[in-house]
Amino acid sequence: MNETYYVTTPIYYVNDVPHIGHSYTTIAADTLSRFFRAAGRDVRFLTGTDEHGIKIVKAAAEKNTTPRELADEVVVGFRDLWADLNITNDDFIRTTEPRHEDRVQKLVQELVDRDEIYEGEYAGWYDEGQEEYVTESAARDNKYKSGINGQPLVKYQEKNWFFRLTKWAPKLIEYIEANPEFVKPVSRRNEVLSKLKLGVDDLCISRNKEKLPWGVEMPNDPTHVVYVWIDALSNYYTSLGLPEIGDEWDSRSEKYWPCDVHLIGKDILWFHAVYWPCVLMALDIPLPKTIFAHGWWTSEGKKMSKSLGNFVSREVIAELCEEYSRDAFRYYLLRAVNFGQDGDFCRDLFKQLYNSELANGVGNLLSRTTKMIGKYFDGSVPQAGTDVPEAAAVREAAATLRDTAAGFMADCAFNKYLQAIIDLVNATNLFIEQTEPFRLAKDESQRDRLATILYTCAEAVRIVLLYLQPIMPDKAAAGLAVLGVSAGAGFAEAGQWGQLPAGANIQTAQPLFPRKQ
Ligand code: MSP
Repeated sequence: MNETYYVTTPIYYVNDVPHIGHSYTTIAADTLSRFFRAAGRDVRFLTGTDEHGIKIVKAAAEKNTTPRELADEVVVGFRDLWADLNITNDDFIRTTEPRHEDRVQKLVQELVDRDEIYEGEYAGWYDEGQEEYVTESAARDNKYKSGINGQPLVKYQEKNWFFRLTKWAPKLIEYIEANPEFVKPVSRRNEVLSKLKLGVDDLCISRNKEKLPWGVEMPNDPTHVVYVWIDALSNYYTSLGLPEIGDEWDSRSEKYWPCDVHLIGKDILWFHAVYWPCVLMALDIPLPKTIFAHGWWTSEGKKMSKSLGNFVSREVIAELCEEYSRDAFRYYLLRAVNFGQDGDFCRDLFKQLYNSELANGVGNLLSRTTKMIGKYFDGSVPQAGTDVPEAAAVREAAATLRDTAAGFMADCAFNKYLQAIIDLVNATNLFIEQTEPFRLAKDESQRDRLATILYTCAEAVRIVLLYLQPIMPDKAAAGLAVLGVSAGAGFAEAGQWGQLPAGANIQTAQPLFPRKQ
């Protein structure tokens, strides 16, 4: 049985339309999924939508509709965008589905049975945007406004159910200290640790139904619903069909837990790195292996906003995909910024990167190689013979790519992974300049040398395209087809040098990445 690999994105709120931020995490998760599938792992990739809570109620009221209708409408936009971006998720969970709601109740009941939840009184400040209670001191420090959206905090006083977070926090600190892979990147891990060490309160995990009827009912108290974050975080586990509740989903995908990586944005780190693991510990469920928090995108130097006109919406993404291809968009997002750091979306830089690395880099290498094989060897890949010493650097760059690829992917270091590909492209272009095959072609006595040179180029391009597949599935497949190679081969074998058979028929190719003015 193959080793499993389970990757998740956050489940997106349906109070707003999808944008570049959502696409970013989903493209990253898709890239990991495609890479580990090709590396022979049994992959499960989950995304979905977060449909309960006050945000959705308010958004629906503003649009004169019901939360359910709003969710049904917005979810289509997410699904369509994922189809447009060639996302290969294995499941899509909506928190309003019975398979999820029933399991949330089951998990919460289990917490009640284990005495991990107790009834208490809450009096204090609430941030309705974040759906979070705020401590008196934090509220005061921020002039009783939300630290996130600046809206006034609301005073709440009510009976509620509390989870014993204080009991688990010290165990979590120990766990994070002993497991450097648990929260990444390391700066985020340090941030969580220092905040945890300042101390936590027990976590209020229910909301009064009178104030908020749109949620999963507490199994032990019909006057309350489950706090939306507990409801939402559980999706990573409930979607696998666990625990057994007597329906068709039971134990469906048990083998995928614990999850390999929860990809999230930095703003939702605390929920994932503190609340979620503490709840899991209280339930005696193994913790996810890694929580990776990426940075945020601004747009053209400013915070994205619809009123500023710099909002990278689905429509803008569609336009970019139309102009540059969806693969180029995927490439740009993962190449322009180190995963984990903030980045700025900038059309000029997009075009520059596209022209330099894709049009002049990968695309040009493919077309000059195929043109020369067409012209000098009738379109049939020549057999490598005579040793050409300069080819060693190309083979080395290919070996480096093969040897570092899995480590970079396991670390979500997409940019470094792509750099190793570009290094191979550059090494090959340099090799062509050094060996001048177009000059050798005029000299019949250099025929063997010319054959080795062009085989080396074609093999290098094949490997470039092979490793580009997880990020650029369409373009890589189109490029491989030009070389007479079918897409989808696993890295174990296809990553080795020399897999391109001599005699393969090269097709004439349209430029893979036409240059943009
Ligand atoms: N529903 C919660 C997540 C629950 S997961 C159990 C939520 N949803 S969200 O739709 O508001 O945000 C989803 C993700 O989008 C978050 O990871 C957030 O960081 C990300 N982004 C929102 N704007 C972003 C940018 N401008 N740039 C990058 N990512 C951003 O939070």
